[in-house]
Amino acid sequence: MTWRIELVGTRQPSVIVGGEGALALLAERAAMVREAGLRTFVVTDENVKAAWGGSMAPLISGSSGVEGLRVLSPGEAGKSAASAAICWDWLSKAGARRDDIVVAFGGGMVGDLAGFVAATYLRGVRLWQVPTTLLSQVDSSVGGKVAVNLPNGKNLVGAFHQPELVVIYPGFLSTLSASEYSSGLGEVVKYALLSDGRLLDVLETKTAAILARDPATLSSIVEQCVAFKAAVVEEDETDRGRRAILNLGHTFGHALESTLGYHVLPHGAAVSLGLLAALAVSEVVVGLPTDTRARVVRLLANLGLPTRMPGLTFEPILEAMGRDKKATAAGIGFVCLDSIGAPRWGVRVDDETLRRGLKAITP
Ligand SMILES: NC(=O)c1ccc[n+]([C@@H]2O[C@H](COP(=O)([O-])OP(=O)(O)OC[C@H]3O[C@@H](n4cnc5c(N)ncnc54)[C@H](O)[C@@H]3O)[C@@H](O)[C@H]2O)c1
Repeated sequence: MTWRIELVGTRQPSVIVGGEGALALLAERAAMVREAGLRTFVVTDENVKAAWGGSMAPLISGSSGVEGLRVLSPGEAGKSAASAAICWDWLSKAGARRDDIVVAFGGGMVGDLAGFVAATYLRGVRLWQVPTTLLSQVDSSVGGKVAVNLPNGKNLVGAFHQPELVVIYPGFLSTLSASEYSSGLGEVVKYALLSDGRLLDVLETKTAAILARDPATLSSIVEQCVAFKAAVVEEDETDRGRRAILNLGHTFGHALESTLGYHVLPHGAAVSLGLLAALAVSEVVVGLPTDTRARVVRLLANLGLPTRMPGLTFEPILEAMGRDKKATAAGIGFVCLDSIGAPRWGVRVDDETLRRGLKAITP
């Protein structure tokens, strides 16, 4: 089964295809491009190449295969201005033209970096995203946000550059580490809370298939997440309003990650705890019924995500949240949930209520 979603109404349209047939479609599109005399320039990282290098073969142009592939060291450190400069140099030496295509083949790190290179080289070349982590399949490959990190913070330099094609193959998820898979599950639960209750029901009833990484189950779940994100992006491509709802749980999550350390708290764990804290805040501020949080605690626990974090010191976390809020001071505050499928953004929340949110995740 292959599915297709079109993102229109954005500055450049984006076609997103997913499912078991997605890789064959990618090879087909690559052959068409080559027949038209154009080239594809693939950016990946070492882990993805080791696991899925064979699937990149149809994309790599040039008889030696070398000129069409750039392999980065894995990890967030590679999402840097220095890596972008290496890629610009590579493209210019290869004589890449505006109608050639940069292909981001990897997780969100590769997607953001290669996307940023595509947005900036020659003031913008074509971009395809081939996301290989659950997080990048449900979130970062869709919507056109691309960026690199600076020493002073993540994603401080970036652009909006829609991929013309996103190819989502569920089989890639079979080789992900447990921690990386959980990172994506945290985001999936976020989408289930933001969208109507159907996805939440699926997650509750198909937990075993999800944990077994059943490709058909995952393909359908990813499709629902992507459909939701695409609709939000169509409404607010440049993140000036409703797109903020995609940050549900992330104000707490980012503050927990940066305070406790990214190696202590994996991203999925931070999102899981952040969602629960945001639900506790929503109970106080907008009257979310308390049984919602109990339901989400059960779901997250069944999916193997943490629901409590012992020993949290609140003040540094609140300070980190304050810094995050200043970064989005254009009027967008906290994201709350009135009920499942009914998010509200830009909500002003005082520190006492934020402390109540943290208490909800501290044993
Ligand atoms: N642009 C956006 O809208 C957006 C949204 C959310 C997150 N992000 C960004 O995404 C990044 C995180 O993305 P991520 O979680 O995908 O991390 P990642 O790209 O660093 O991948 C995580 C790890 O998994 C490995 N990996 C990737 N695919 C694999 C596979 N199929 N099998 C085995 N190993 C594989 C990678 O080598 C890496 O070690 C962050 O930089 C974040 O800022 C961007």
